Amino acid sequence: MVKPFLSLVLLTLLHTPALCAAEFDAGAPTVLITGSNRGLGLEFARQYAASGWNVIASCRNPAKADDLQALAKNNTQIAIETLDVTSDEQVSALAKRYEGQPIDVLLNNAGIYGTLEKQTLGSFDFEEAKRIYDINSLGSLRVSVAFIDNVLASIQKKIISLGGGMGTQSIGRLFGGHYFMKMSKSAHLMAMGVLQTDLKKTGVMIVMISPGRVDTQLMRDSGWTGPSISAEESARHVIERIELLEPKNNGRLITYDGKQIPW
Ligand SMILES: NC(=O)c1ccc[n+]([C@@H]2O[C@H](COP(=O)([O-])OP(=O)(O)OC[C@H]3O[C@@H](n4cnc5c(N)ncnc54)[C@H](OP(=O)(O)O)[C@@H]3O)[C@@H](O)[C@H]2O)c1
Repeated sequence: MVKPFLSLVLLTLLHTPALCAAEFDAGAPTVLITGSNRGLGLEFARQYAASGWNVIASCRNPAKADDLQALAKNNTQIAIETLDVTSDEQVSALAKRYEGQPIDVLLNNAGIYGTLEKQTLGSFDFEEAKRIYDINSLGSLRVSVAFIDNVLASIQKKIISLGGGMGTQSIGRLFGGHYFMKMSKSAHLMAMGVLQTDLKKTGVMIVMISPGRVDTQLMRDSGWTGPSISAEESARHVIERIELLEPKNNGRLITYDGKQIPW
């Protein structure tokens, strides 16, 4: 007869999605990606894995990350991890789990646009502002600080944060509205910029990369209906950019095709 405790364990196991056990290659570089279940994050995971990297592919809900699960099924160098970038507990738990693991590229990709109406003059919802800020501005800083020892222990020592153009005077003020998204990206630039100043002497490189207008859910949330590039193309360029980073890029915002955007 199965004892009650044992049956509870069995029941839990049956209802827990089978996550693939990752086997990292000690000789390969490692990337940690946030928000890797869809859009650019998923594409980064796919392309880094295809190049032989160890990939720590984090997302809020691995059980629902079907595309990422399918990817990891065919690649043992992908570890899927739970990470909500707004959760101090989850961020520190993951950092503890990977203590001692060098991370060559920390890719702060998770981000949201937020609901347009709630950030339009006349219908502001400041709770929405806090939600956007927590993910876009604090998320990258929270994750970067938690994994700084991993980055320092690596060969490449790169912290990359996606986006920022909308947070600059030159782009963000070209058109009105979209307040909270723009404000959150300004704060994101400053957070990563100050972190770069603090870590100047450590050899860590911190760069913000604008991925272009990319056909993802986030772009659709923004209301943009003009030209865009695919996540596959954007991720390919961003990865190339990360490879080619030079000391002059440190603390800067650059585009996926290598131009510097002043902020
Ligand atoms: N697409 C563009 O045109 C464009 C332009 C400039 C910059 N960017 C930047 O590129 C990055 C990726 O965006 P995308 O275009 O790929 O958008 P996307 O397809 O909407 O993906 C956004 C990702 O962020 C995740 N995310 C949201 N809240 C999170 C949280 N609290 N913790 C962890 N993950 C969270 C989402 O996970 P869930 O599925 O769980 O929500 C999803 O994986 C963002 O930082 C964005 O600002 C994109």
